[in-house]
Amino acid sequence: MARVLVIGGGIAGLWAAVKATDAGHTVELVTKAELAEGNTRYAQGGIAAALFPDDSTERHFADTIEAGAGLADPVAVRVLVDEGPDRVRDLIRFGVAFDRGESGLERGLEAAHSRARILHAGGDATGAAIEHALVATVRRRAVAIDEQTMLVDLVVETGHVVGARLLGPSGAVVERRADAVVLATGGSGCLFRHTTNPAVATGDGVAAAWRAGARVADLEFTQFHPTALAAPGTPLISEAVRGEGAVLLDAGGRRFLLDLDPRGELAPRDVVARAVWRRSLEQGGAPVLLDATSLGRAELARRFPGLDTVARAAGFDWAREPIPVTPAAHYAMGGVATDLDGRTSLPGLFAVGEVARTGVHGANRLASNSLLEAAVFADRTVRAITASEAPVRQVLIADDEAAGSPDTAAVVHGVPVDRDELQALMWSHVGLERDEEGLAAASARLDAWRALEPVDRRSAEDRNLLDLARLTVAAARARRASCGAHFRTDDPNLVVAHLPTPLEREAA
Ligand code: SIN
Repeated sequence: MARVLVIGGGIAGLWAAVKATDAGHTVELVTKAELAEGNTRYAQGGIAAALFPDDSTERHFADTIEAGAGLADPVAVRVLVDEGPDRVRDLIRFGVAFDRGESGLERGLEAAHSRARILHAGGDATGAAIEHALVATVRRRAVAIDEQTMLVDLVVETGHVVGARLLGPSGAVVERRADAVVLATGGSGCLFRHTTNPAVATGDGVAAAWRAGARVADLEFTQFHPTALAAPGTPLISEAVRGEGAVLLDAGGRRFLLDLDPRGELAPRDVVARAVWRRSLEQGGAPVLLDATSLGRAELARRFPGLDTVARAAGFDWAREPIPVTPAAHYAMGGVATDLDGRTSLPGLFAVGEVARTGVHGANRLASNSLLEAAVFADRTVRAITASEAPVRQVLIADDEAAGSPDTAAVVHGVPVDRDELQALMWSHVGLERDEEGLAAASARLDAWRALEPVDRRSAEDRNLLDLARLTVAAARARRASCGAHFRTDDPNLVVAHLPTPLEREAA
């Protein structure tokens, strides 16, 4: 049996820790903050899976491929949708109480889904419910847990990852050895000035894996959520609110999305986010409005109790009036390239959840597929570690998709990186709309900075943000054509491919 070091305490890391312990491995789980902190906890909408009689894995497959703007890997998506229902049943066994109505499990609709298939818990507290159940489950297992412990770097010997250097709560850096290191460090929303992510989301796993020599891919594909509340902290206002009938209005009170896409507010997330961004620019920076008043006060409080509190705390009565919304960085589609079993290009290193690039999201993730991806691929990863004799499927990433190859080597000169300025730079030049001029300016500014020695959490995070910002800009410059969430205003052929909409599929 193996010594397994799991780094990250969201759904992917907890899942891997629980299943690896059950498989007989010796497991150590390291989390950067307290065990429950991370993107999972803040997930609102829910988890998507084909579980209802009017749905099928075929439909879920087609919706995922379509949302991915032609770049999702069909083999990986097939695995996701086929194994998803069993992983949701596992979650129910772990104690997640998904919301139920008179006829069984309740289900919501979100953008680009052709069926209502999103399970939710506590109304809009799905991530918190999953985190709670998995934390309780992991605490019942013999897992060594190190909280407030951050990944600094991976330890590589003769081309194999054999452990990690960790910054513990005392401020000392310690080395842990393991047979398998599972990265589950989550996303990197803090690269951008406005994000729905918590402060821990600084891309630590991708940056450390890249420094260790692992392949990374698709870093140009950052998903911007269309509806963060235009208030300090840009809290997420779930897409499920639009799924229940809320609409987006411009400053003149006009519903503008139907002009752009017949699916209106439920068009794929990249389409809606860009439309919200553009309209806001066109109206001089005034935010677009989300009108949820048609749902009524009682239903808003029942279905979205967390958001009800968030809106009130920010001074809005969303049952009475539309609320201002703005796009914000939400999810990283790219990351450490893996095969279907979480293997990275470095032996001994696995990656699961948002830190990984499995290929299921392509250029734009389908809403509520992220928790599902984490569960499905964490499960497969543990099975692969256990059956280490299983054949390794090589990570096949075309060179032009790999983000690690461009000129991204860290500079040793320059002034220390300024995090606020880096986030502002990424927001203005590497945000919802990009062009070569802005990307080149971002690249030059990033090159002028250097990272300090990682002696504490702040300096370790800043080093990661700088590495990841450089990689992201290089990837965005390398992909000259717009695709999904990567939108270049200087691309002469803006539309890459026409994929049939759900309505067109129904008609066919
Ligand atoms: C949301 O609730 O809108 C977010 C869901 C997701 O990111 O998949």
